[in-house]
Amino acid sequence: MSDAIRIYVPRETSAVSLGADEVAAAIAAAADARGLSVDIVRNGSRGMCWLEPLVEVECDGKRIAYGPVTPDDVEPLLTAGLTEGGPHALRHGTVADIPYFARQQRWTFRRCGLTDPLSLDEYRANGGFDGLRAAFAAGADTVIETVTASGLRGRGGAGFPTGIKWKTVAGAAASQKYVACNADEGDSGTFSDRMLMEGDPFALIEGMLIAGLAVGASRGYVYLRSEYPLARQVFARALTLARDAGWLGRDIEGSGFDFDIELHIGAGSYVCGEETSMLDSLEGKAGIVRFKPPLPALEGLFGKPTVVNNVITLASVPSILALGAERYAALGVGRSTGTLAFQLAGNIRRGGLVEVPFGMSLREMITEFGGGTASGRPIRAVQIGGPLGAYLPESMLDVALDYEAFTAVDALIGHGGIVVFDDTVDMAAQARFAMEFCAIESCGKCTPCRIGSVRGVEVIDRIVANEGRDANLALLAELCDTMVDGSLCAMGGMTPFPVRSALKYFSEDFTGTRSQGAGGNA
Ligand SMILES: Cc1cc2nc3c(=O)[nH]c(=O)nc-3n(C[C@H](O)[C@H](O)[C@H](O)COP(=O)(O)O)c2cc1C
Ligand code: SF4
Repeated sequence: MSDAIRIYVPRETSAVSLGADEVAAAIAAAADARGLSVDIVRNGSRGMCWLEPLVEVECDGKRIAYGPVTPDDVEPLLTAGLTEGGPHALRHGTVADIPYFARQQRWTFRRCGLTDPLSLDEYRANGGFDGLRAAFAAGADTVIETVTASGLRGRGGAGFPTGIKWKTVAGAAASQKYVACNADEGDSGTFSDRMLMEGDPFALIEGMLIAGLAVGASRGYVYLRSEYPLARQVFARALTLARDAGWLGRDIEGSGFDFDIELHIGAGSYVCGEETSMLDSLEGKAGIVRFKPPLPALEGLFGKPTVVNNVITLASVPSILALGAERYAALGVGRSTGTLAFQLAGNIRRGGLVEVPFGMSLREMITEFGGGTASGRPIRAVQIGGPLGAYLPESMLDVALDYEAFTAVDALIGHGGIVVFDDTVDMAAQARFAMEFCAIESCGKCTPCRIGSVRGVEVIDRIVANEGRDANLALLAELCDTMVDGSLCAMGGMTPFPVRSALKYFSEDFTGTRSQGAGGNA
């Protein structure tokens, strides 16, 4: 074993965008100049974006963290004894003791940031493939029973029970079935799919293998958004490594099970995250939403039974198989079992990824993890669940982060993206943006969404300009009803959620009656 000092510098998009590559190069050069033997590992992110680039040094079996580190900090850090975990203003102690990290319960992200994402040895040494081995031993039916018993629900947005979906595909008679992983991650303020694929790509591969085994599929596809070049690079490499080591291909681990995965890149369309348009896009067609039925579980990709699951849904499965459905189901509240990797974004002091069991209040998440707004101004609104999610006012932040509690207040948790706004936000502009976004991203198949969203922008403009305000407010309410009732998919069907919530909780922004000194709309 090498006696080189292990130094971890994340190779993850937010860290890299903040200079992690330059920091890694500066450490290598400075160590070289000092004759120090260092092994620089490019790990994934621990999810504490505000500390990136977060450099970790392995000392006496512990990982001492420093951050955010710039290339200019490297020399002073080495002089201060970085390699022995020496004191410095940027030192945070061991990663495990940083409160933001210590308070989480990491299941899906347990290896993310800990290991070298492209080391199969490290993956296996940290529980990797234990879930797949358990699945081989248990057999397909028991795998589906275990996933059902865990209560796992789809993390892509709709929260549909994963076990039921898998059972439907397993029960369909067909010579060919598929597993299609949705990595389009279009929701505002979300990045958990990306962090997982950059930080622990084998976990997704393992989850897809287990899904394939459970339903009788021999091929998997990952549909990744084009805006994630680093995730593409890391995941493509992980596929090659897994294939070369026999974890993909024929007769995996001597089990007789064949499975392989192809990576496809989208072209920057929000609606291609909707499962049926994603399938059309995978087939090489324009991403247009399909009528349902038939369900993709029965007639999906190329007309064959297909499991469509989000990255986080699939990556959550290996630990459920390895550690047991009971342990997973014991976390969370009610029908919202297990954990979710929430993502804190927008006007927030400590943005990042927080994996905790369902049930924590939104306020606790935003204030205790997020530290309140980055601007220091009061919180005015929070949008959860992407561009189709409702805006909640500050007075509603005590709502619990669980699917049912959110449904009860006409909101959704979706993919767990939490976007915070301070009191300078103009909610009429946000409502207009919701309609405009829908107009731009609509696939165009149905009228309420294609035409309704364009008219929605015009009506909001007239309300704000005080042109026949009362009549136009009534018209907007009617338009929202029509879009909810008449749209083919959730794109047009849920765009009214942010609009209605803005009207309900922030009506003063539409009527010009908002009091001065409350942030203003300027
Ligand atoms: C307009 C629209 C966009 C969507 N975008 C995504 C996405 O980017 N990623 C995702 O996993 N699911 C997305 N979904 C949800 C998918 O249609 C589908 O429910 C999900 O991929 C199923 O996987 P799950 O059960 O694991 O959540 C979107 C839905 C709609 C209506
Ligand atoms: S609601 Fe919009 S995105 Fe969905 S099918 Fe209709 S036009 Fe397409």
